[in-house]
Amino acid sequence: MQVQWYPGHMAKAKRAMQDDVKLVDMVVELLDARAPLSSRNPDIDKIANNKLRMVILNKADLAEEKANKLWRDFFAKQGIQTVLLDARSSSAKKPVIDAIMRAAQKKFERDRAKGIVSRPVRIMVAGIPNVGKSTLINSVAGKACTRTGNKPGVTRGNQWIRLNKQVELLDTPGILWPKFEDEQVGLHLAYLGSINDEIMELSELASCLIRELSVISPDALANRYNIEMHEDPYIVLKNIAVARFALQKGGEADTNKACRFLLEDFRSGRLGRISLEIPTLGKESE
Ligand code: G4P
Repeated sequence: MQVQWYPGHMAKAKRAMQDDVKLVDMVVELLDARAPLSSRNPDIDKIANNKLRMVILNKADLAEEKANKLWRDFFAKQGIQTVLLDARSSSAKKPVIDAIMRAAQKKFERDRAKGIVSRPVRIMVAGIPNVGKSTLINSVAGKACTRTGNKPGVTRGNQWIRLNKQVELLDTPGILWPKFEDEQVGLHLAYLGSINDEIMELSELASCLIRELSVISPDALANRYNIEMHEDPYIVLKNIAVARFALQKGGEADTNKACRFLLEDFRSGRLGRISLEIPTLGKESE
């Protein structure tokens, strides 16, 4: 199944991001911990060229713990500060600020050497749709933070949120456009909900997910729906529909509803903590 999608608003988002990135010292790249490779925009290196960098593996609560640790080590080996996060958590702020401070250490040292003591590091959060950018900004900014820069008379005033004396966050996240390098990347993004379901053939997408789950988490569906597994995904969908009492008039299994249950359950973690990608030698070093 080939997923192709690049709506006009992505081109606009790209231009906005390229403008906004000029205002910051650091780009905090948000990736989905369940699929860090697919949720990473390869253009980020160009966009954030010369900027300090940090990675947040968000929705870590939905990914397997073992895989999370492997990914953290993977980015650490590239010298990138990485935080595993549930951005919705009330305790999200501290690990994020601590990592920003570590990633910005060299900047502070350089500033001090030049006699500059109080210039905060300015950061921007960036990531593909649905990865949790707004949730993260809300969690780290909270109500107590001071918002500055929205001065009257300035049409598109950039709002800065002061997280502490040394860190300021741009209120507007950078929206990165997904990159469909290969079929697998497009599918993973679609499973995660970063691509609008309306442009997809839902039963094909759900069938692909069933096939993939049967390899990476063979018991997930049987456990969740209490069904018999089968090598034909369509039969699995029928079994899910029956198990969830999703029947059409006449008693036929409503496989469309089953597709929606399945995708929703996967996205929300009700199938368990599942990582679609783990670092293996080869692919991620390309
Ligand atoms: P975006 O700005 O990058 O587009 O993403 P946004 O913050 O809107 O988050 C997208 C969805 O992901 C939201 O769920 C949000 O609650 C959820 N989310 C964000 N971070 C995490 C995380 O670390 N763990 C988990 N489990 N979920 C996370 P939603 O259902 O679309 O909205 P809502 O009903 O929760 O508000």
